[in-house]
Amino acid sequence: MPAIVLIGAQWGDEGKGKVTDMIGGDVDYVVRYSGGNNAGHTVVTPDGQKFALHLMPSGALWPNAAIVIGNGVVIDPKVLLIEIDGLAERGVDVSRLMISGDAHLIMPHHRALDRVVERYLGSSRIGTTGRGIGPAYGDKVARMGIRVQDLLDPGILRKKLEIVLRERNQVLFKVYNRKEIDVDATVEEYLTYAERLRPYITDTRQVLWKGLEEGRTVLLEGAQATMLDMDHGTYPFVTSSNPTAGGACVGAGVPPTAITQVIGVTKAYTTRVGSGPFPTELFDDFGVHLRKVGREYGTTTGRERRTGWYDAVVAKYATRLNGITDLVVTKLDVLSGLETVPICVAYEVDGKRTDEMPMTQTEFHHATPIYEELPGWWEDISKARAFGDLPANAQRYIERIEELAGTRVSIVGVGPGRDENVVRHSLL
Ligand code: GDP
Ligand code: IMO
Ligand code: MG
Repeated sequence: MPAIVLIGAQWGDEGKGKVTDMIGGDVDYVVRYSGGNNAGHTVVTPDGQKFALHLMPSGALWPNAAIVIGNGVVIDPKVLLIEIDGLAERGVDVSRLMISGDAHLIMPHHRALDRVVERYLGSSRIGTTGRGIGPAYGDKVARMGIRVQDLLDPGILRKKLEIVLRERNQVLFKVYNRKEIDVDATVEEYLTYAERLRPYITDTRQVLWKGLEEGRTVLLEGAQATMLDMDHGTYPFVTSSNPTAGGACVGAGVPPTAITQVIGVTKAYTTRVGSGPFPTELFDDFGVHLRKVGREYGTTTGRERRTGWYDAVVAKYATRLNGITDLVVTKLDVLSGLETVPICVAYEVDGKRTDEMPMTQTEFHHATPIYEELPGWWEDISKARAFGDLPANAQRYIERIEELAGTRVSIVGVGPGRDENVVRHSLL
């Protein structure tokens, strides 16, 4: 009964959507287990169509797999319905969608608070996506959240909303000088979503248990990434959930013993959106070059992504933390045409060298990268499909990544398309 977890090994946007779509044809369930519509997963199908998925699992683009939004996700129902309609218009069968009744809802006060708190934080802001993610998880932990199942009981929906808004409206109005959220209007709005979402709502953990018992394959598709994990990332510059492999069990209700494989996705260089430490960040022409050639602009917010060289300290940390069995290195094609390609193999922190993640936030802020310079390559590698098709120096770069991470590199991405990959070891 194989459950496979797929996670981002850096700060997000590694190409998780592409890799999920790549193997989506061979799995029976594709499950989102954390985050919400802060995620933006881009998939380019073989007929050249581009899809940007925010809440729907990227396996949606294959007709065979059941698609599941697990209990660990926070759902903005309006955004989900727009996404469902958009996919249906493009011929995707969305009737296979199942939504956990235990998933929490993003409510209007979450979006309002997310934006206003960021404004008040000023230069200390997190740089959130402004989608209400943090406040929604905050209400969940404070046991004041509203769940998908509450949409099915209008009395409960109203009562829970009254309770949470009694406090949150005071904060919006008295602390931040914003308009209060109206209970009646919100209940009315959310009941219209309830009508449309009702057919999809189910106890998804039961569905997944049954599937696993029947020997089916479940792919748990991570959003965000290791370094954005609330417990293990660069807190407080993180998202408000646990995108790491451990979070997959909690966010889908799948037992740890069912997980047989953990696929870690990493770019051949590094990007980050929003604030927070990023040791290998480039502020020079190389940074601009990576952004331009790699088209590093956010799928969700359109923001410029910060760019930097590959960080092997982060990769090793992600490998051990998630138990990565297969690493997928995406966007190697973007690195073609550089004289040398640096890899950060260690940090210097307050005069000392370390090849482990420093313990404190302050130390990580002070970490400066120690680079190993590898020789570059000039060839266009987008047509490479076997490892031997890659120039010798590109092979060396991948082998060095593998060595430093301590796990095998199974796939190398050489283009955005489903088939634009060098396959060293098949993922399934
Ligand atoms: P995700 O959030 O992890 O799913 O990643 P995003 O979709 O936000 O960003 C990754 C971007 O890189 C998308 O535009 C993908 O189409 C693109 N991409 C993925 N793999 C490759 C690759 O191997 N080469 C190139 N050139 N682009 C890729
Ligand atoms: P995918 O799944 C990159 C970042 C935001 C911000 C921080 C907190 O496409 O990889 P939030 O809105 O979650 O409270 O913002 O996390 N962030 C992402 N960065 N890719 C993502 O998702 C992200 N989701 C959140 O930019 O720094
Ligand atoms: Mg993304």
